[in-house]
Amino acid sequence: MTLLDPYRRQLSALEARGRARRLIDAEGADFSSNDYLALSRDPVIAAAITDAIARGVPVGAGGSRLLRGNAAEHAALEEQAARFFGAEAALFMANGFAANLAILSTLPRPGDLIVADALAHASMHDGIRQSRARSVFVPHNDAQAFDDAIARWRADGGTGTPWIVAETLYSMDGDIAPVAALADIAQRHEAMLLLDEAHATGVYGADGRGLAAHLEGAENLLTLHTCGKGLGVEGALVCGARALIDTLVNKARPFIFSTAPSPLIAVAVGAALGRIAGEHGDALRAALRARIAVADAYICAPLGLPSPASQILPVILGDDHRTMAVANASQRAGFDVRGVRPPTVPAGTSRLRLSLTLNAAETDIVALGETLKLHIGKGKDAA
Ligand SMILES: Cc1ncc(COP(=O)(O)O)c(C=O)c1O
Repeated sequence: MTLLDPYRRQLSALEARGRARRLIDAEGADFSSNDYLALSRDPVIAAAITDAIARGVPVGAGGSRLLRGNAAEHAALEEQAARFFGAEAALFMANGFAANLAILSTLPRPGDLIVADALAHASMHDGIRQSRARSVFVPHNDAQAFDDAIARWRADGGTGTPWIVAETLYSMDGDIAPVAALADIAQRHEAMLLLDEAHATGVYGADGRGLAAHLEGAENLLTLHTCGKGLGVEGALVCGARALIDTLVNKARPFIFSTAPSPLIAVAVGAALGRIAGEHGDALRAALRARIAVADAYICAPLGLPSPASQILPVILGDDHRTMAVANASQRAGFDVRGVRPPTVPAGTSRLRLSLTLNAAETDIVALGETLKLHIGKGKDAA
């Protein structure tokens, strides 16, 4: 018996169940990243960093924002983001995971009720776990269930603020939340509405401002725009009322007790917001829509899958081993396709998460369709 035995046993058990994970290189045509608009290699964004270095902007912030780490580049980005997304204020954080933790562990108060979609991201689950508010999870994308949960809580004497918590575009299923219905429920119940736009930012809405762009500016709305997906960089912008943003600055532990993001990254995110706006952004979005149409014709139709709701296309195979076997075969054929297994997705729903990005050409999508047909067969439940 050594100190390491429990870990080795756990890893062996994961292996036996087809659930062991390992880090593999990014190789082959990109069908797995969240770099939907291929902005991670955008020359204008890269040049913005080069220019900033030439101006003497430091690589590291050197401390927490509340200490020496607050740079002019952070504040400039936050002003730009608030204007761009139409919010009263914005806060730049190191990543979306930390931002969700910060928001949910800080803003809902004792006596409040958090009503969250069951498929909300792990970072939301973890933030909710740390919150002192009560919480309840409701079935995925079931607007009525949100309404009912709040009504029941009120009837039982709940007097605090209800919080409606959802993503706008779900990362593992690619489906879109009933945003208008959730906003309406929030309005009727005087609830706060937290919408995570992680997979919609850059890709949906006017100028890529997301699926809730038309709601921005409402007092009860808080949105999260992560910067490492459609924007191609890293970090996260929390957008909402000044009072909420200032509360995060004063109270959110993941913000306070953490080194500020690099000022260079703040510059890069600012440049990325410029790239998703206007004609250039519209052209990127049109190209991505064309990729989705090709995937519909050459992947979904032959496999008997419904048309894609977005650039994220789940191919649910169910069995963990089979999912990984098809992912591995696709990788050997030159496609970076990843399998996603529990606990990331519910038991029995292991899947290939195909993500369509401008990093893969339309011909790559057609070729992937052929490979998947070979390994999955017509009708995705074939052996
Ligand atoms: C819906 C959602 N929210 C938040 C995050 C976390 O964002 P980040 O990758 O910036 O930490 C992710 C990333 O996987 C996500 O899919």
